[in-house]
Amino acid sequence: MRNKLIYFILLSFAFTSMIQSCQNETTINFKRYYVNGKGIYEKNCQNCHGSDGKGLGTLYPPLTDSTYLKLNRNKLACIIKNGQTGPVKINNISYDGIMPGNETLADIDIAQVIVYITNSFGNQQGFYDSEFAKNDLVKCK
Ligand code: HEC
Repeated sequence: MRNKLIYFILLSFAFTSMIQSCQNETTINFKRYYVNGKGIYEKNCQNCHGSDGKGLGTLYPPLTDSTYLKLNRNKLACIIKNGQTGPVKINNISYDGIMPGNETLADIDIAQVIVYITNSFGNQQGFYDSEFAKNDLVKCK
């Protein structure tokens, strides 16, 4: 009886530490993506969208429209890689500009910058890894 109890306690310890190490790995990955994504953003995006993601007047749209970002989550990789033209409505304001593509960014860079923008500027949309970017990029029109 006593042995069983000890066995049970040990097992639950092993189990909780297993779950914890999984969570830690996701948290570490998230942080790594976020930090690298910030660097990529500063280099490639900040000029237009601003360090606070608020864009510039009616010229460059802000990245603060969580609904737009959520609805277009699986198109973000294509927007970043290939750019975007044509009318868009962001925070209820119409924009019709030209965003240049970033063809030299690798899948992982794109995923990292997506983690950064979708978890900054008031957005809180969680993790997005390079496999997601790879899958989404196959579907670019
Ligand atoms: C030369 C200026 C410029 C740069 C640099 C730029 N963008 Fe844009 N971006 C725009 C414009 C203009 C639009 C709107 C295009 C349209 O009217 O269809 C846009 C649209 C977007 C959108 C969709 C609309 C929105 O506001 O949510 C996202 C997301 C986005 N850009 C992210 C990025 C990211 C990430 C980078 C860097 C990798 C970047 N942009 C670099 C100008 C720029």
